[in-house]
Amino acid sequence: MTIILHIDSSPRTAHSGSRMLSREFVDAYVGAFPDSVVHYRDLAAQPPTLVDEQWITANFTPSDLRTTAMQSVLGESDVLIDELLAANLVVIGVPMHNFGVGTLLKCYIDQVVRAGRTFKFTPDGPRGLVAGKRLVVITTRGSDYSGPLAALDFQEPYLRTMFTFLGITDVSFISCNGMDSGNRDGALEAARQTITALVADIGNISLTSHPESAVGG
Ligand SMILES: Cc1cc2nc3c(=O)[nH]c(=O)nc-3n(C[C@H](O)[C@H](O)[C@H](O)COP(=O)(O)O)c2cc1C
Repeated sequence: MTIILHIDSSPRTAHSGSRMLSREFVDAYVGAFPDSVVHYRDLAAQPPTLVDEQWITANFTPSDLRTTAMQSVLGESDVLIDELLAANLVVIGVPMHNFGVGTLLKCYIDQVVRAGRTFKFTPDGPRGLVAGKRLVVITTRGSDYSGPLAALDFQEPYLRTMFTFLGITDVSFISCNGMDSGNRDGALEAARQTITALVADIGNISLTSHPESAVGG
């Protein structure tokens, strides 16, 4: 059984290309593997809280010394992390905003990157604890970053770096370029072909256990 965490991060709703494609991916996957379970998180409907001074203080206090108030401050982060750790396939719809990711996804990432929960420090440097998962990122961009504009793409490298840091190394990107460049239908069609191929390539993921993911901190 595949436990899918489906995350949408576009502030747009009805006309969002990334939402449409992430939905099509999840529908195609569940159509192929009907025993899948989907947990849906809409970051626009429930925006993650900004990391503030209270959050930082609580996070950098050892877990056994945290007050009830500190635990409460980290409650939302704990829920998001538990949800991430429970999934074995994570699908994220990501519009490009100002050459990177939008505010909502940045806030989400800030909430789930936590020492002792999603990564840990070791003598050899930091080590991700979110192991054994498959990540599919579906990006939509107004312009085309597959050619001369490639150096301006801070979206894919950032996401690849961040999730690799957390231990998710099995990452696939479906980049839907040129959504606002006069050939939206062509861009969507190319993305759809990749979706079909990727669903077949991923196959039915079995739930695996990740004992290190449960490390407290
Ligand atoms: C605030 C904002 C910033 C944007 N910045 C960029 C950008 O830097 N580069 C780009 O190619 N497109 C940019 N776009 C266009 C979107 O990436 C594009 O319309 C995309 O398809 C939006 O996905 P969505 O429909 O899922 O929201 C921006 C759009 C918005 C609203």
